[in-house]
Amino acid sequence: MQKQLSTNHLLGIKDLTSDDINLIFETAEEFKDVINRPIKKVPSLRDITIANVFFENSTRTKLSFELAEKRLSADVINFSSSGSSVKKGETLLDTVNNILAMKVDMVVMRHSSPGAPHFLSNHIEANIVNAGDGTHEHPTQALLDTFSIKERLGEVAGKKVVIVGDILHSRVALSNIFALQKLGAEVMVCGPITLLPKYIESLGVKVELDIRKALEWCDVANILRIQLERQQIKYFPSLREYSLYYGVNKVMLENLDKEITIMHPGPINRGVELSSDVADSEHAIILDQVENGVAIRMAVLYLLASVSS
Ligand code: CP
Repeated sequence: MQKQLSTNHLLGIKDLTSDDINLIFETAEEFKDVINRPIKKVPSLRDITIANVFFENSTRTKLSFELAEKRLSADVINFSSSGSSVKKGETLLDTVNNILAMKVDMVVMRHSSPGAPHFLSNHIEANIVNAGDGTHEHPTQALLDTFSIKERLGEVAGKKVVIVGDILHSRVALSNIFALQKLGAEVMVCGPITLLPKYIESLGVKVELDIRKALEWCDVANILRIQLERQQIKYFPSLREYSLYYGVNKVMLENLDKEITIMHPGPINRGVELSSDVADSEHAIILDQVENGVAIRMAVLYLLASVSS
C-alpha cells in the first residue's frame, strides 16, 4: 500500500493519482475518529508552522484549515489581504517570502488568480496547499466531497454524479470532475447553456440542460452556488428565472422514483439554487461535507509534511 503522496504540494486534483486520493481518504478516516473523541488533538504536526494566506473571502475553508492545523498541534498564523500591506502595492511573492522569513513550513493559499499557488510553488521551498485559485481548482473541496459520497453510498466507483449550476465560474466543479473520474464515477454537468464552458465535453462528462432529467439520471446531485461576484455580464435574465428553471426543491425530489443524495459546497443561496426544505432535509449531506472537511484537511497536511521530511 502506498504510504506517501506522489507530490509535496496540493495544487490541484489534476496532479493527484487515484492512489494519492485513496491514501488521503484512509488517513482522513483515522483523523475523523480522532476529532470525534473527547480529546480531539494529536501531536502529529508539533513544531510545524503553517500560514493560512487568504486573498479572497472564505468561511468554511479558512476555519476548516485552521481547525485541522490546530487539531494536529501545528503552530498557525493567519493572513488576510484586506488590511494588509498588499493594499500598499506589495507583490504576492514578496508577501509570501516575508511570511516564510518567519520560518513557516507550509502555506495554505486562496487567491482570485488561477495558477497563483502554482506560481508560488515554483519560487519557494515550503509545501503549498491550494485553498481555491480563482475559477481553476479547489482540491480539498473535491476531496471532502468525494469522501462524503463514499461515506454515504459506500463507494464512489460506478456512481452517477451530476454537478448543477454555474459550472463556468466554478473551481469546485473542475476539481470534482477530476476527482470523481479518477475514482471511477460517471459525471454529468447540468445548467443553463450560458453557464457551461464550451470545452466541457472534452473533459469526458455528460451534458444535460434539463434539471429534471439530470436528477432522474443521478445518484448524487452536487448543487453549486451562482457566483454573481465572478459574473461580469448577465448569463441569465434574473435569479428568479434561474431558480424557476434550475432551483432544486422538495417536489422535484418527491417526483423521482428513487432517493438521491444532495450536496452543496456552501455558501448556499437559499431559494435560488436550492430550497431550504431540501437543504435541511435528510437527502442533504451538506453539514457532513463540512465535518469531513476538517478530517480531509488534517490528512492532506499530515501527508504533505511526511513527504517533505
Ligand atoms: N466551500 C467553500 O470554499 O466555502 P468558503 O468560500 O466559505 O471557504
